[in-house]
Amino acid sequence: MTLSGSTALVTGVGAGNLGHHFVQQLLDRGARRVYATARRPELIDAPGAHVLRLDLTDHASIAAAAATAHDVDLLINNASMSSPGLALADGDPDLIRRQFDTNVFGTLQMVRAFAPVLAANGGGAVLNVLSAAAWATSDGLHVYAASKAALWSMTNSLRDELSGAGTFVSGLVFGMASTPVLKAFADAVAGAGALDALMTDPAVIVDRALRGLESGRTEILADQLAVDAKAALSGEGPSVYATLLGQ
Ligand SMILES: NC(=O)c1ccc[n+]([C@@H]2O[C@H](COP(=O)([O-])OP(=O)(O)OC[C@H]3O[C@@H](n4cnc5c(N)ncnc54)[C@H](OP(=O)(O)O)[C@@H]3O)[C@@H](O)[C@H]2O)c1
Repeated sequence: MTLSGSTALVTGVGAGNLGHHFVQQLLDRGARRVYATARRPELIDAPGAHVLRLDLTDHASIAAAAATAHDVDLLINNASMSSPGLALADGDPDLIRRQFDTNVFGTLQMVRAFAPVLAANGGGAVLNVLSAAAWATSDGLHVYAASKAALWSMTNSLRDELSGAGTFVSGLVFGMASTPVLKAFADAVAGAGALDALMTDPAVIVDRALRGLESGRTEILADQLAVDAKAALSGEGPSVYATLLGQ
């Protein structure tokens, strides 16, 4: 897809995070309009973007965004949540459900709401932001990993389902980007700075994602962790994250 002249909507925009970089780089690449969305739009600093409130767990807010942003031809489903340490076997079921309501059903609702918009605008594209955790879980990440695995499968199915309308669906997979939230998590789990060398600048991840979209990649592996995690699926060794964290 050609990004210059496109109209994009990005979910989960926040200070210094991946969503922020998506918005800025889309504008830099000549997007005609970019909608930057967040649960708390008053906190967004996105010069040049149109800011909208959107909460993945509030389907009325998704419908309202789809009605306002009826010119969108690129949907970037970037928002997600994680509750570090939450366990599948004995974690709070309400929190587990909330994670799936956000990452899986919220993202699905985005696609359902925007599919007719994309089709009306010539087909367009959807980019779902996944994680290497979809393929390689570890202590502390199990619920998040399960939700991203579901989203990976859903991305592959949606690619098939939406192809008839001319909508291209891609997934972005990477292991660690030095966004504020991830950096704080990694420092807490492994010690301050211990994993810095393995983290990729979020601006680089977004650049690879947008290049991948422009060249029609259905799955964009944006760092070495993603490449290693996918390769390890054919074997029985420990997950790349477990190895990293010495588990
Ligand atoms: N950073 C990494 O190393 C890494 C690795 C693999 C994959 N990823 C994925 O990359 C994406 C961006 O992550 P990030 O590192 O930039 O982390 P982040 O700053 O936590 O970004 C997640 C965004 O999603 C928003 N969000 C959470 N719940 C929401 C809801 N119910 N409705 C709408 N928005 C909601 C958050 O908003 P609030 O501020 O309101 O909570 C935040 O802006 C995520 O999908 C993440 O899973 C990140």
